[in-house]
Amino acid sequence: MKPESLSNLTISANFAISADGKISSLDHRPSGWTSKADHQRLLDLRRDADAIFVGRKTLQTDNMSLTVPQQERQPLRCIASASGKLTGEEKVFHTPGGAIHLWCQTLPSIELAGVTFHQRSLTEFLETLHQQHGVHHLHCEGGGTLLRALLEIDCVDELHLTWAAHTLFGGATAPTISGIPGLAMAQSQHFQLTHFEPLDGLDEVFLTYRRINTAP
Ligand SMILES: NC(=O)c1ccc[n+]([C@@H]2O[C@H](COP(=O)([O-])OP(=O)(O)OC[C@H]3O[C@@H](n4cnc5c(N)ncnc54)[C@H](OP(=O)(O)O)[C@@H]3O)[C@@H](O)[C@H]2O)c1
Repeated sequence: MKPESLSNLTISANFAISADGKISSLDHRPSGWTSKADHQRLLDLRRDADAIFVGRKTLQTDNMSLTVPQQERQPLRCIASASGKLTGEEKVFHTPGGAIHLWCQTLPSIELAGVTFHQRSLTEFLETLHQQHGVHHLHCEGGGTLLRALLEIDCVDELHLTWAAHTLFGGATAPTISGIPGLAMAQSQHFQLTHFEPLDGLDEVFLTYRRINTAP
């Protein structure tokens, strides 16, 4: 069950998945393996968000700035990193945009001006964003390790997927949306399809699912 303190915080996530359910290849190929339409959808989904949340590896692999083009209101930019292994060279720290919040267990060894650090549990971090920073909609852009942590506290309300079955990555340990293949979830979670949009000529389908409490 989603913690009561987070009941008014909507958490969504967006991923492109291959024919074999992977979000990247074994060697963690950066995003860009799907279509321009998928990239546009990624930007469109950011527009409604009060905060965007990514794991350190996605931030670095995909060279993210976490901004919304041509929009005055910019979402908070939230990063998860237990190790604090950031170099300071990441694009997000050199691009104007929303305030940056780092959820970490270990503080980075380099100085990161203007960044707010949170050394708390994931639930407490989300409560802080909601109660103190006015976040009503947090949008996660991966990767699977971070989404897995949100799933474990049963906080994912909406899943946006691009079913990109034109590509098959293989690799038993290539990442999936729920993290490491083979690591069991404590409990299955169920979602209901609310949007289905095949993209003519692109061999991809946009899907949206909403969390429900019982199996459909
Ligand atoms: N297909 C898609 O739509 C899509 C979307 C996003 C990402 N990707 C791909 O997925 C790959 C990265 O995914 P990933 O699962 O390996 O990595 P990830 O979730 O982006 O980042 C993992 C890192 O984030 C931090 N982190 C995540 N959860 C945490 C938790 N519960 N507690 C503390 N720290 C946490 C840790 O950082 P530290 O190591 O610093 O402790 C961890 O090593 C990349 O290849 C990327 O391109 C694909």
